[in-house]
Amino acid sequence: MPKYIVLLGPPGAGKGTQATIIAKKLNLAHISSGNIFRENIDNQTELGKRAQGYMDQGQLVPDDLTIAMVRDRLAQPDCQAGAVLDGFPRTAAQAQALERNLAEQGNEIQCVPYINVPDETLIERLSGRWTCTQAGHVYHLKFSPPQKAGFCDKDGSPLYQRSDDHQETVENRIRVYGEQTAPLIDYYRQAGILFEIDGICEIEQVTQSILECIEKTNK
Ligand code: AP5
Repeated sequence: MPKYIVLLGPPGAGKGTQATIIAKKLNLAHISSGNIFRENIDNQTELGKRAQGYMDQGQLVPDDLTIAMVRDRLAQPDCQAGAVLDGFPRTAAQAQALERNLAEQGNEIQCVPYINVPDETLIERLSGRWTCTQAGHVYHLKFSPPQKAGFCDKDGSPLYQRSDDHQETVENRIRVYGEQTAPLIDYYRQAGILFEIDGICEIEQVTQSILECIEKTNK
């Protein structure tokens, strides 16, 4: 049975970091809605132009655009064995759309690891985050620094700071998360597929906890 894993958690919790590791380990696709929007902005597509204003302000991109974009991504051949979803769903409407979308193929979400990190840690993580220009590999000045300052270990491309990682936008993203995305914690808890993960441990320990809940829910 294909594996669909939804990583839930606030901005800066480590969803992208963990999704990259888990997807590689389990040979699954990594679907990051934020990365797909950023690629569209870089390529100046119509979708990118519509998403940019919302992202710059730390608001969510409207559901209709986001749901259609992820639906297209899930239809790609590399998602047939399953995927790790990072940053989607983020609203009740997105969660319901994902369920319908998977059910059409006879699939379902296997588990939802919820990476729990307090707000003060999120701000520290996001203000020190650097991302590579070529493939979005993520570093942190203090917690996971690159070997050569300013450059990606994996592909050598220069690192940059995301424009929505400035303090005011970060605070807005955390507020929007609390209002629109945090209700999904109870939604998935009631469905019996939520697993709370302590996100303030070392990266490797967080990975281990996520792998354990994937193992526990294997079908
Ligand atoms: P998106 O790109 O999804 O951003 P986000 O959810 O705010 O999450 P981040 O990427 O900021 O954080 P993360 O949890 O992935 O943490 P990371 O691993 O990088 O979305 C951006 C925008 O796009 C949204 O604001 C919205 O506008 C739009 N959007 C996207 N999806 C949408 C949707 N579904 N609907 C509507 N709009 C949408 O880690 C952070 C830092 O911490 C890194 O430096 C990392 O090295 C470090 N770190 C990670 N883990 C640890 C650890 N255990 N210990 C110490 N440091 C750690």
